[in-house]
Amino acid sequence: MFSSILLAIFPIFLGTVQALTAPVVARQSTANSCPIVWTEISTTLTQLFLAEGQCTDAARAAIRAAFHDCFNGACDGSLILANECSNTENRGLVRLCDSLGSLARDKGVGVADLIQFAAAHAIRTCPGGPAVPVSIGRKDSNVASPMGILPSPFAPATALIDLFASKGFSVTELVALIGAHSTARQFSVNASLSGAPLDSSPGRWDTQFYAETKSGRAPFTLPADKALAESSAGSELFELFAESRAAWASAFVPAMVKLSVMGVYGDLVDCSEALPGGTWSRKVRREADGDRREHSPKQVGGLL
Ligand SMILES: *[C@@H]1O[C@H](CO)[C@@H](O)[C@H](O)[C@H]1NC(C)=O
Repeated sequence: MFSSILLAIFPIFLGTVQALTAPVVARQSTANSCPIVWTEISTTLTQLFLAEGQCTDAARAAIRAAFHDCFNGACDGSLILANECSNTENRGLVRLCDSLGSLARDKGVGVADLIQFAAAHAIRTCPGGPAVPVSIGRKDSNVASPMGILPSPFAPATALIDLFASKGFSVTELVALIGAHSTARQFSVNASLSGAPLDSSPGRWDTQFYAETKSGRAPFTLPADKALAESSAGSELFELFAESRAAWASAFVPAMVKLSVMGVYGDLVDCSEALPGGTWSRKVRREADGDRREHSPKQVGGLL
């Protein structure tokens, strides 16, 4: 079921059960600095995630993997360490899981941390992608999370909304997260259209997913995304995010951070500086470029 969507589903997620059930939540430590190994890892991930100025299938898989590691339990690396990747609901992730598992071993870092770092890196690597703060210090687990919790690509809007609410995510957070389908392709929801993107620019992080899903112009639309776009709770949010990249980013970034620490407790170390574009000047330049693309009709037209 849900598995089918290669990367894409991830956006729907979740978050926060832990905030509801535990008094102690993950907190950022200011005492420690990010280990230099994360800068080396970042260099390796850029080679995997960026090709010809666009983000790659591996980047798409990394974004989806972050959701799949966390939403059915905690962000604990069990996606890889308990081989959840071989489950049908994670179809399409095996190669990425192998790559990240090897990289974690080679570099001596935690798998749960690497999965979340890779997702933040991938989002940043997709042209137009926001800087999502990422921290390190999760505990790994080799105990598999239950199957059947991840959202189905065929879910009705009310089921999606209820599922996310049960994990502590609002409708706004749900709709913001699902925008990660901006860079997604589907492989098995309709196998005869395997590889079909969910918007016309799957190599870029942009708002076309919202506009095209709402209008029915996307190359492929998941039934669940269509249902959410047409629902009374989701419709206006699709319109808002289609119109405003800034509104989407300001909803997406905190929702993604929340997702990335589901079920995570204790002190974490901020490693955002190890992400690409992590220096102030590069960040500003990239954002300026993104704004130009977003607001220039000529350049936007060129993308279509
Ligand atoms: C898959 O897509 C093809 C081509 O658009 C369509 O004819 C077919 O009905 C679709 N199958 C399903 C199960 O939706």
